[in-house]
Amino acid sequence: MTPMLEVKNVTKRFGGLVANDDISFAVAKGELLGIIGPNGAGKTTLFNCIAGAYKVDGGSIFFDGRDITGLTAHQTARRGLTRTFQVYAASGDLTVRENIMVGCFMNTRRRSEAAARADKILKDLQIDHLAPNLVNELPIAAQKRVVMATAIGTRPKMLLLDEVAAGLVPQEVEEISSLIRFVHDSMNITVVLIEHVMEMVTKLCRRVIVLDYGRKIAEGEPETVLATPDVVKAYLGEKYAREYARRVKECPEPSSSK
Ligand SMILES: Nc1ncnc2c1ncn2[C@@H]1O[C@H](COP(=O)(O)OP(=O)(O)OP(=O)(O)O)[C@@H](O)[C@H]1O
Ligand SMILES: [Mg+2]
Repeated sequence: MTPMLEVKNVTKRFGGLVANDDISFAVAKGELLGIIGPNGAGKTTLFNCIAGAYKVDGGSIFFDGRDITGLTAHQTARRGLTRTFQVYAASGDLTVRENIMVGCFMNTRRRSEAAARADKILKDLQIDHLAPNLVNELPIAAQKRVVMATAIGTRPKMLLLDEVAAGLVPQEVEEISSLIRFVHDSMNITVVLIEHVMEMVTKLCRRVIVLDYGRKIAEGEPETVLATPDVVKAYLGEKYAREYARRVKECPEPSSSK
C-alpha cells in the first residue's frame, strides 16, 4: 500500500550543522507514529521540512500520493498536512472560538461556515464551555487543547504534533493523550507526534522512530526500540531502560494497533 507520508533521504543543514541527515521513513494511513530523541536531535526541524516551513537541502517528501518537496507551509496545510508548534502558537488575543475559526478559514472564506465548523469542533473536543474565553487567560493544558482544535479546523488528513504534552502534569498528560486518541480513532486523522514524555509515547504509538544528532538511529515497536543499546545510550539512560523493562514485564502493552 502507498504510504500517506514518505520522507526520502531528507537532509537539512544550518551552516555547518546537519540538523537532518539523510532521513527516510514512511507513515501509513491510520498510523499513530512517535518521533523521539534527545534535545537538538532534529525532530522539530524534520517537522519543519515536512510541513514546508524549511526548504530541504536534499531528499524528497511525498504526501497523499504527491511530491510536496518545496511547497510552503500553507500549501502543505491545504493538502491536508497540518502541524502544531512546540512553542505555543494559538493567538492569545483571540477567543477560543475565533482561534479555531482561523483554522477553519483554510477551507472556506465564509464566516458562517467557519463559525459552524468551529462550533462542531468545540463540541466534539468537549471544550465548548471555553468558547468565549481569551486563549491567553486559559491554563496551559486548555491552551494545548485549543492548539489541537485549531489544527483540526484545517481538516487535516495528517496531524504533526510537536510536544503537545510539554509542561503538563501527569493528569493533564493523560487527558491530552485521550484527546489524541480520540482525534486518531474517531476523527480518522493519521498522527505523527514528537514527544519527550515516554509513557505517553509507549501508550499511544505502536511504532516509533528515534533521531540522534540529526540521524535516524532506530525504528520499530516501542518495546523493542526503547531496549536498543544505541537508543538507551543516546537518550534514555540505563535507569529508564531498567525501569521500562520491569514495567513491560509486569504489565505488557496491548497488542492491538490502536
Ligand atoms: N533555524 C535554525 N537555525 C540554526 N540552527 C537551527 C535552527 N533550527 C534548529 N537548529 C539547530 O538544529 C538542531 C536540531 O534542532 P531541533 O529544534 O530540530 O531539535 P529537536 O530535536 O526538536 O530538539 P528539542 O527536543 O529540544 O525540541 C539543533 O542543534 C538546533 O540548534
Ligand atoms: Mg523540538
